[in-house]
Amino acid sequence: MTAVINPTPDPQSPIAVPALLPGFLQLRRTARNGIKTGIRGLDEALGGLFPGLHILGAKPNVGKTAFAIQVCLRAAKALFPSLYLSFDESPTQLAGRAAAVAAGIPQSRLRTEEGLEELEAAAEQCHCDLAPLRLLGGTAEVSGTTAAAALRSMMRTAGVDSGLLVVDFLQVWASRRSSADFRKAVSECVTELQQAVREANIPVLAIAALNRDGYDKPSLSSLRETSDLEFLADSVLLLAENPERQVGSMRRAMDLTVAKNRNGPVGKTIPLVFDGELGRWSEEGFF
Ligand SMILES: Nc1ncnc2c1ncn2[C@@H]1O[C@H](COP(=O)(O)OP(=O)(O)O)[C@@H](O)[C@H]1O
Ligand SMILES: [Mg+2]
Repeated sequence: MTAVINPTPDPQSPIAVPALLPGFLQLRRTARNGIKTGIRGLDEALGGLFPGLHILGAKPNVGKTAFAIQVCLRAAKALFPSLYLSFDESPTQLAGRAAAVAAGIPQSRLRTEEGLEELEAAAEQCHCDLAPLRLLGGTAEVSGTTAAAALRSMMRTAGVDSGLLVVDFLQVWASRRSSADFRKAVSECVTELQQAVREANIPVLAIAALNRDGYDKPSLSSLRETSDLEFLADSVLLLAENPERQVGSMRRAMDLTVAKNRNGPVGKTIPLVFDGELGRWSEEGFF
């Protein structure tokens, strides 16, 4: 006898395995084709950023924003739009950073008039690489749903079925909310992001601060103080400096650990190099 597969099972009733299987297969197929970060080791571990909530945690000033900008620019090359929701730096500041990264102009150069003129000229040439990235200044009124709706509209315009929402960063977003209970406010933001994932079927990359105890050797519990992030996230990526690797005075050796991954192996550590001047992340040995 052939099993009858109901493509739209009623979520209110108990459901048989064969009826749920098509959904699982679709999830895995979409996951395999997640938005690539361009960091080979990470794309292998995750299959790219699949629709779900991805947390990027590290101590301040290690290059989380630079990492997220780079992922957006990489997504743009694959013609996927990104919405960068920033509660930290202004959209104007971020636009300058993104344009400089896309054009390969070092930060120090932007302190001169010639450098700024170079950036202006280069940004016109890089227009296609930059156009799919939109920046939105975060306010207390922004919700996961409004961000997802904005991204969906960008996806419709671009005629693609995926896009990337970046939130930079969770704890500042939560602190803008009126709730007196900070942990609760973070949980609320995370719940909204999970809703955004469901509504738009997109990956969300949310930057998170860590407990001070986890600055040097971060682990999942480094996210614990602020909320139940470690339980709610689909993947958790942690960045930490690795003082044992020598990569030259202008660069920093950083390790990226996949501390949680609903779609594959966990615990993988990828040796990276961060060039702060160019705002560029690369895998060690793949400059
Ligand atoms: N336009 C820029 N503004 C600030 N920092 C920059 C810029 N471009 C490169 N950097 C470098 O990146 C580092 C901070 O990276 P950032 O992505 O802002 O870190 P995080 O988001 O983790 O705080 C700085 O130490 C600096 O070396
Ligand atoms: Mg930042």
